[in-house]
Amino acid sequence: MNILRKKSITQMLEQSQKRALNRTLGALDLTLLGIGAIIGTGIFVLTGVVAAEHAGPALIISFILSGLACAFAAFCYAEFSSTVPIAGSVYTYTYATLGEIFAFLIGWDLMLEYLLATSAVATGWSAYFQSLLKGFGVELPAVIASAPGSGQGGLVNLPAMLIILTMTALLSKGIRESAKVNNIMVFIKLAVILLFIAAGVGYVKPENWHPFMPFGFEGIVTGAATVFFAYIGFDAVATAAEEVKEPQRNVPIGIIASLSVCTILYIVVSLVLTGMVPYTKLNVADPVSFALHFVGQNTLAGFISVGAITGITTVLLVMLFAQVRISYAMSRDGLLPGVFSKVHENFKTPFANTWITGLIGAGIAGFVDLTTLAHLVNMGTLAAFSLIAIAVIVMRKTHPKLERAFKAPFVPVLPILTVLFCGYLMISLPAITWISFAIWMSIGTAVYFLYARRNSELNKG
Ligand code: ALA
Repeated sequence: MNILRKKSITQMLEQSQKRALNRTLGALDLTLLGIGAIIGTGIFVLTGVVAAEHAGPALIISFILSGLACAFAAFCYAEFSSTVPIAGSVYTYTYATLGEIFAFLIGWDLMLEYLLATSAVATGWSAYFQSLLKGFGVELPAVIASAPGSGQGGLVNLPAMLIILTMTALLSKGIRESAKVNNIMVFIKLAVILLFIAAGVGYVKPENWHPFMPFGFEGIVTGAATVFFAYIGFDAVATAAEEVKEPQRNVPIGIIASLSVCTILYIVVSLVLTGMVPYTKLNVADPVSFALHFVGQNTLAGFISVGAITGITTVLLVMLFAQVRISYAMSRDGLLPGVFSKVHENFKTPFANTWITGLIGAGIAGFVDLTTLAHLVNMGTLAAFSLIAIAVIVMRKTHPKLERAFKAPFVPVLPILTVLFCGYLMISLPAITWISFAIWMSIGTAVYFLYARRNSELNKG
């Protein structure tokens, strides 16, 4: 029962060729898929808190810093997915390179990322949903409008729970976003953001950018560690590898292009937002539409809310789907109980898994506030990015001859920088995040030794 046993890459490649999913997605589809997974609660919600409490108008620097960390990691992801174009993302890559225990722990870590991201994204959805209701003069009672920790007098965030359960119901019946629906949603999302920029830029008052760094550099880095959440999702592009035409070429393009587009948009939005409204006023749950209300553009603010709700819904679907897919893959490999990979006879979906995930995600979304959730998600993701960077270096050593259509530049310098950069952002996260993360990973280690190691498919020879 060797904890470092590995799956063979050649075997996995052969298996995936046999499965032969329809290879229909091209570079543009992938880029749109990435943007669909990226733009959501991060830019529409977290920007406000971060500007008001951590970064001030230097929010833009926070976005640039975490964008850089993602860019480094994106190159590592791209190399991996061009070499091993198999569904399952980092979990699968790690199983082939670093060995079973690392694969299990990274899978466990990714579950933290995607499950809590589902809850966090739903909280953002709830904020814009309520903002829209308010536009029609409807206000939900405070007790059911937010989680207890968010300081708004709430006991439970009911809209957040309901949207997760709705998405769970859709997903469990096999309604997967088709590329076409995704593309429409992405266009709405992009249109809304461009509309905000175009409408807002005329209201920018440069004096709102002074003082530029009210909380110093430390605040900027804490801000970067928080808005990092806004970039999460480009990694989801890699999970579609088996459905991509010429994956070795198109997956790296999809990852890097979607990340670039979002980075540019985020930078412009943060400039316009902090230029329109004094940063001290931005501590609201719907900062982007708030800014337009602030300058008297109420109708436009309404459009933004509708667009944000639509856009955030796609992110929610992707996160929920990713979570189910990871636990499904781990269960198929024997590392998690069989119920997670049981396929429903009629719907042909992991029905039970989807509902277990949805119910837990909804429970969390009802009672935990957005910032706490986002910090934990970021911690999990930054840890995953570091591991994938290390795996790139290991893979170059252990499989030097494997064909790599895309090679990350400057290896090992770039992966080492990725680890350092992500580590820097991780240490900027609060102590409570570290404690929760440590507890989660300890439980994972226990599950591995008490359950997974024994039940692993690799044990059955
Ligand atoms: N990047 C995604 C969002 O901002 C998770 O909602």
